[in-house]
Amino acid sequence: MSRLCTDLDLETVLWLQNYLIKKFKGTLVVVSHDRYFLNEVVTDVCHFHKSSLTTYRGDINNFTAVLEENKNRQMRLYEQQEAKREHLQKYIDLHAQAGENGVKASKQRKSRMKKLDKLGVMAAGEGRKFKASYDGEAQEIEAYEEDEEVVLNFPDPGGFDNTSIVTLDRVAFGYTPEKILLKDAELTIDLQSRVGLLGRNGCGKSTLIKLIVGAIQPNKGKVSINGRAKIEYLAQHQLEQLDPDSNPMEHMLERYPGDRSNATKMELRRYLANYGLGGDELPLQKISTMSGGQKCRLCMAAALYRKPHLLILDEPTNHLDLETTEALIKALKEFKGGVVLVSHDQHLLTKVIKELYVVDGTLEKLRQGMTEGEAFNRYKKDVVQGRR
Ligand SMILES: Nc1ncnc2c1ncn2[C@@H]1O[C@H](COP(=O)(O)OP(=O)(O)OP(=O)(O)O)[C@@H](O)[C@H]1O
Ligand SMILES: [Mg+2]
Repeated sequence: MSRLCTDLDLETVLWLQNYLIKKFKGTLVVVSHDRYFLNEVVTDVCHFHKSSLTTYRGDINNFTAVLEENKNRQMRLYEQQEAKREHLQKYIDLHAQAGENGVKASKQRKSRMKKLDKLGVMAAGEGRKFKASYDGEAQEIEAYEEDEEVVLNFPDPGGFDNTSIVTLDRVAFGYTPEKILLKDAELTIDLQSRVGLLGRNGCGKSTLIKLIVGAIQPNKGKVSINGRAKIEYLAQHQLEQLDPDSNPMEHMLERYPGDRSNATKMELRRYLANYGLGGDELPLQKISTMSGGQKCRLCMAAALYRKPHLLILDEPTNHLDLETTEALIKALKEFKGGVVLVSHDQHLLTKVIKELYVVDGTLEKLRQGMTEGEAFNRYKKDVVQGRR
């Protein structure tokens, strides 16, 4: 048995997918939130939810469909149960008010009360029908409780004219003269930009981002950064740079001390709740004990507090679950600033991105005139067929 932790590029994910489907003969347990990968590889889904583990046969699409069906069934049964309850109660009330105290009336009332008591569906079996008889075990149908929806709201940076935020003009870069990673790179980023970056591990995606934010300088060409633009960059391994002994409140206060008054602290606490880090405990929980997803939310909260004009995310979904990835997609689509995104998550990229580039010695814009989904699929095909 072996355990693998991945930060793999699309090329390697596709190779792994192929290997697992065609060659691997053992049992595979995979923890992943990559919808495309899971749909290709898994035969069963174990859903860990509200402290219990339920297994569903089939892939993620099937799993989502079954969850939806279960939800609808539970809502339908609950409605029927409540209608029946109301009906029986009405009968009892009505006849009690009418003062029908004879032996027969009292018996009927008692029988209705007994039914009311035992209202529910068969505990065993399919649970589709109401009990035909009211003897034996009955199971009360509970009202369907939606999971708390994960919502991410990225603030409007506002007040910025629509000139470019960053421009790359014929940029070349290599850490050493022998190994040039980028040549003739051209890119313009403004508030409307939704730029996606793809490419093999080690091709220079994170390096390109460092050039965009001005952390490193090009060997040739020019990077122009608008001095009035606020740029936030969530680095690939940002979570590992969080102080494990700190907590979300301390982390925020360190970056945004304000006047350190109670009012500032309250405001930060309220703000953290927008990123699923609310309540009494989470804002003060030691970072070392937080989950990957929670740490990722903290990094996002800290980055967005100052309302950036440009948000750069380097592999943001590695720690995010399906729900939070959906929330991120929605937030990025509605965000009023520019976005640069490095990701191998096809779902995220194709939902958010308007321009897709491959870093491959230069910055190559994927074929124009296609949707992002088509361009991504073409790229995938090229990778599989060894053209990339
Ligand atoms: N500070 C550095 N000094 C020298 N070489 C570096 C430095 N940082 C990165 N490199 C090298 O530059 C190349 C590009 O690295 P980079 O981190 O930009 O790749 P990447 O495309 O982001 O990869 P991944 O998909 O794995 O995140 C790699 O070969 C890497 O080893
Ligand atoms: Mg990288």
